[in-house]
Amino acid sequence: MDDLKVKYLGQIGEAGDEATLEAIRLAAVGKKGEVSLKMRELGKMTPEERQVAGPALNALKNEITSALAAKKAALADAALDARLATEWLDVTLPARTRRVGSIHPISQVTEEVTAIFADMGFAVAEGPQIETDWYNFDALNIPGHHPARAEMDTFYTHRAEGDARPPHVLRTHTSPVQIRTMEKTGAPIRIICPGRVYRADYDQTHTPMFHQVEGLALGKDISMANLKWVLEEFFTAFFGTEVKTRFRASHFPFTEPSAEVDIQCSWEGGTVKVGEGDDWLEVLGSGMVHPKVLEAGGIDPQEYQGFAFGIGIDRLAMLKYGIPDLRAFFDSDLRWLRHYGFASLDQPTLHGGLNR
Ligand code: DAH
Repeated sequence: MDDLKVKYLGQIGEAGDEATLEAIRLAAVGKKGEVSLKMRELGKMTPEERQVAGPALNALKNEITSALAAKKAALADAALDARLATEWLDVTLPARTRRVGSIHPISQVTEEVTAIFADMGFAVAEGPQIETDWYNFDALNIPGHHPARAEMDTFYTHRAEGDARPPHVLRTHTSPVQIRTMEKTGAPIRIICPGRVYRADYDQTHTPMFHQVEGLALGKDISMANLKWVLEEFFTAFFGTEVKTRFRASHFPFTEPSAEVDIQCSWEGGTVKVGEGDDWLEVLGSGMVHPKVLEAGGIDPQEYQGFAFGIGIDRLAMLKYGIPDLRAFFDSDLRWLRHYGFASLDQPTLHGGLNR
């Protein structure tokens, strides 16, 4: 028994994994293990011998069994220690930096324009970018033969032969939203419509897709004087400085009378500065809504009148933020976006200040 004890306790002490332990258990105290076979021999002994050998064998069996259990637990502890030593994380390390997106200058300026006009009581209206030629032209007093249709370099959508639907265009300006709003709400109206417009044109100051914001105010006694005040108020808020404006007589089919509006600027070393100097920069078209346009929108021109205007948003962004080339706006070049974009939590706002 002493030999068995020395043998198995020695083996258990040296075992390096659970499989070896299990083999030792079978060899010692399994059904056909050495200790178990010895216990079977008890039956052949005399009662006196049995009284000595029985308890001793039981004690041996217990000793081996608990040594096995203790070793098993020790192996598990060692495995856990090994894992803990290799699989640790330093949660105090600084986090990996991630690139944050930025707000595109066009989105930024659209928000600024919207905030300023909202402050003057203008709501935002929207219309589709694919328009019928009626909304884009006819309803705005631009009949089929009118030269403005050709001048605008219109994109027409393809129509299969026999397609009975009216011709559709990518809207060349935001003015069709005037008509859609008149139809939808009737007068009085005070809205702006910012959005994308399309013309087949491409150079440093023109891209085939660009942005406008349309304005429309209809009431019983809205006049050109109101137009002038609203626009001057807008430019002063937008550029953060008193900006002189110049109203030049002009012509648009959808307004009568019509005016193009220039803002005061200076050119120095190839860069424009708004609100100083004695040069002028054209920024918008405007006028009193033509009676035919009111009629097309279902509004009685004997009862209502008002003004409309259309501003180029891209031009405003270039002027305010000193961005020279319009084409780069739509190249999706990350270096450009990081340079000219706005941090989403640090944007100029009407309440926080538009000119920081
Ligand atoms: N729709 C004109 C354009 O795209 C801009 C414009 C001029 C809009 C005069 C107006 C307006 O509402 O009254 O060139």
